[in-house]
Amino acid sequence: MLGKTVSHYRVLRKLGEGGMGVVYEAEDENLPRRVALKFCSAAQDPQLRPSLLREAHALCSLKHPNIAEVYELGQTGEGEPFIVMELLPDGLSGRLRNGRPAIRETRRVVAAIAMASEHAHNKGILHRDIKPSNVRMTETGQVKVTDFGLAAAVYGAAVVSQQSTIPTAKEQAVGTPGFMAPEVIRREAADRRSDLFSLGCLLYEMLTGKAAFPGKTHGEIYENTLKSEPAPPSSSNPAAGPALDRVTLKLLEKRPEDRYQSAGEVVAALEALDSPVVVWRSWLDGRRRMLVYGVAVWMVGFLAVFLWNRLRVHVVPQQARYWYDRGIASIAEGSYFNATKQLTEAVKSDPDFSMARAHLAEAWDEIEYSELAKEALLQATRGPPSL
Ligand SMILES: Nc1ncnc2c1ncn2[C@@H]1O[C@H](COP(=O)(O)OP(=O)(O)O)[C@@H](O)[C@H]1O
Ligand SMILES: [Mg+2]
Repeated sequence: MLGKTVSHYRVLRKLGEGGMGVVYEAEDENLPRRVALKFCSAAQDPQLRPSLLREAHALCSLKHPNIAEVYELGQTGEGEPFIVMELLPDGLSGRLRNGRPAIRETRRVVAAIAMASEHAHNKGILHRDIKPSNVRMTETGQVKVTDFGLAAAVYGAAVVSQQSTIPTAKEQAVGTPGFMAPEVIRREAADRRSDLFSLGCLLYEMLTGKAAFPGKTHGEIYENTLKSEPAPPSSSNPAAGPALDRVTLKLLEKRPEDRYQSAGEVVAALEALDSPVVVWRSWLDGRRRMLVYGVAVWMVGFLAVFLWNRLRVHVVPQQARYWYDRGIASIAEGSYFNATKQLTEAVKSDPDFSMARAHLAEAWDEIEYSELAKEALLQATRGPPSL
């Protein structure tokens, strides 16, 4: 194939090969651009051709900034079909081989895959093979989900009718061991939440550099996927923090109903990691939390003592109560002048007697001593409440 021209594409070099396709870099002779051409791995295998065609159809219906763009479906002189798509030089698997990406980058990449998934799911298409080798990047770092080869099989079957659950019982388990959801391994119905499990496996690997469900054989990997609970990512990469632990482990729940219910929810959860509440919450974890809680307990204690002193119920001495009762009686009779005298006595006996001051203000006001009334009222509102 190398050096050959198919249609108007000059094949330059092989870029990679997966289970179903072989991909080449090619020069477009009509337009000044490089493209990627995807052929069936074994052209002679008649089973793969329909899958390639369906992948082209699926990709065509999915126009999204985070999904690889398809330019056209071509055909060689011998009638062999191939997909012409945008060239995506950088792969996520290659990046992961160079070491663990920064947390911020991991979140950006996973959110982009989730956005692509949400778009595909809303069109009734499941990817069914989300994993690092099917995620690539443009030269500017834009994330692109590729390889809808397995999704295409679904697209060709039930999903066009917007059916959200795809029965896989009669099919073989589809996907890649280590990224397949428990229900997919069991060949039960798969749905959008099965893609989210795969996304969880990818997130786990990006955070820890390790597989969520390791194993030497497929059998071992399946066994782990069905039964074992992965350790929180922060136990091997503390930078992940408890908030990302929660997102990852929720994606990896065994039962689909315990996971996020849509890729949109995953995007929201990842975006919320930037919110002050979550940052504060993760800042509060561990020993720091004990310290902050300790200080908080002290502050609440001080506040309680302060408020107690300020608000504690005031007990009025007998003498003050006597003058107060007489003052109130005078007000009731309309003898306000007498009331001012009696209430002044009450206040003298108990300067903290706010009610006496309030009625004194009332009495002064009635006989139009407004300055004294104001003064008495001011004093009344300053002091503690009394009975
Ligand atoms: N658009 C692309 N640009 C550059 N390389 C690509 C592109 N698409 C796929 N590849 C390379 O080809 C390999 C196989 O492609 P993929 O679509 O995943 O096929 P398969 O269905 O066989 O898994 C990928 O792992 C990657 O290395
Ligand atoms: Mg692939």
